Amino acid sequence: MSFLMEKGSPWLQRVVLFARNFFKHPKMLGSLIPSSRFLVNRLLRQVDWRSARVIVEYGPGVGVFTTEILRRMRPDAVLITFETNGDFVDYLRRTVRDERLQLIHGSAGEINTVLAQLGLTHADYIISGIPYSVMPNEVRSTILTESHAALSAQGRFLVYQFSRAALPYLRQVFSTVEVGLEPLNIPPASLFFCRP
Ligand SMILES: C[S@@+](CC[C@H](N)C(=O)[O-])C[C@H]1O[C@@H](n2cnc3c(N)ncnc32)[C@H](O)[C@@H]1O
Repeated sequence: MSFLMEKGSPWLQRVVLFARNFFKHPKMLGSLIPSSRFLVNRLLRQVDWRSARVIVEYGPGVGVFTTEILRRMRPDAVLITFETNGDFVDYLRRTVRDERLQLIHGSAGEINTVLAQLGLTHADYIISGIPYSVMPNEVRSTILTESHAALSAQGRFLVYQFSRAALPYLRQVFSTVEVGLEPLNIPPASLFFCRP
């Protein structure tokens, strides 16, 4: 495994690192492999890239969304990622170099503290891949209310999950939640597009 991590292609390195962490934290990752390009494209189609200036990502993992967000976003936009897994944070620090990226080794619940530290008043989009159905109620509730508070009036909270269990919690906090499915992912992903 460690030979593949050092000598394999960037794609293989990502897959090996992700799989290794799946065996350590199966519930947190929910899948043996990172999200598919079909899921990434389906979700990122929701973003208006011309206007988005502050984008937040929860749970970047090995960065399959992160690198694509950086590729699509404006030169003057910022991307702030929150990741609790130190292996993933180290990997992203080593492999993704972009001045527009702020990698935070911490929980999504810290979003408003971090936005304030960066002198930002709101987020235009939050892209969220963290597993709401397996986290303690208090943690989930804090993350969802803090996310709602962080979004601009026109902002969107774009969520992908591997079950529909998060839907009632999202409906408690967000005024509208549009539900979708991306079957071309392992496992198929439920999508929830929320407005404050
Ligand atoms: C389902 S994986 C998604 C990984 C990647 N975005 C992808 O699509 O392949 C969920 C990620 O969320 C991270 N995570 C879990 N709880 C978190 C929290 N409270 N704050 C930030 N990240 C968290 C996990 O460490 C893991 O990397």
